[in-house]
Amino acid sequence: MRENVLHILKNNSGKWISGEEICKLLSVSRTAVWKHVNLLREQDYEIEAQPRLGYRLSQIPDRLYPGEIRHGLATKMMGQNVFYVEKTVSTNLDAKEFAERKAPEGSVVVAEEQGQGRGRLGRSWFSPYGKNLLFSVILYPRVNPMETPQFTLITAVAVSDGIKKACGLSVPIKWPNDLLIDEKKVCGILVELNAEINKVNHLIIGCGINVNIDKQDFPEEVKDTAVSLKEKLGVTVGRVELLREILYELEKKYFLWQKDGFAPILKDYKKNCLNLGRFARITSGAECWEGVVEDVCNDGALLLRLPGGELKRFIAGEVQLRSR
Ligand code: BTN
Repeated sequence: MRENVLHILKNNSGKWISGEEICKLLSVSRTAVWKHVNLLREQDYEIEAQPRLGYRLSQIPDRLYPGEIRHGLATKMMGQNVFYVEKTVSTNLDAKEFAERKAPEGSVVVAEEQGQGRGRLGRSWFSPYGKNLLFSVILYPRVNPMETPQFTLITAVAVSDGIKKACGLSVPIKWPNDLLIDEKKVCGILVELNAEINKVNHLIIGCGINVNIDKQDFPEEVKDTAVSLKEKLGVTVGRVELLREILYELEKKYFLWQKDGFAPILKDYKKNCLNLGRFARITSGAECWEGVVEDVCNDGALLLRLPGGELKRFIAGEVQLRSR
């Protein structure tokens, strides 16, 4: 009911609508409308009320509320079911629990803040309350677990395209899944899965995007290597709209992958990949190699041409790029 009241107020945005009209549209009493208006106010929606005019929505809060995300979301399944967990330990951990309880495919867990956001290679992911995008998507792809690294690359392309659409900014990808602005990290992706030998039970795509965090709020250890969209653009970016664009792109790519496989997405990935043709140092486990990045393969692996001419294949690793 609260969402219905909000929907009506939004459709009248900027204009007054009488309590009576809302009552009629929803077939409820005036007291019920008043109660739901107050509940919306508790969620920081600014709703004016005037005796002879009725109600008017004057401000929508910058929160990742499910109703806000779904409003105008042009997807079939991605983001049509949203779990809002405001403050949590990790959206990836929450998503795993929801997936175990068979949440619908495309369900998304969003948070304003995480206590222990999980990053790649056992690192953590920091984000202050209400500033950035922290979300995890639940999928049940029919895929061999060996092929799941593709999902990291698919997501990187989707996030890059989503940012381009929402903010007009081109954000290249550093293999496998870092999105960079001026060679500083703006987004990290962590794909986790629950699988058997030849079957994936569920796959969780976790994304952390630095949207509106100010430079001085980054932790000391990442201050020089991280950047936010706001810092680059000089304006605050609407998180909900950005998330909608990313979910739309992710669904488009997921459906394309189901229909035509990974090849068309890999083509887009390569167009946007910073590494190709560059001299790089790759650390994998305790070892480290240097060479020129030659290609990204069909399974998402990276090929490095070593100084002796040998071609070395990596399915995971940390890349440091050197100047061209
Ligand atoms: C990386 O190390 O580059 C990946 C970072 C991924 C962080 C995101 S934030 C939302 C989601 N939940 C998590 O616990 N981690 C991912």
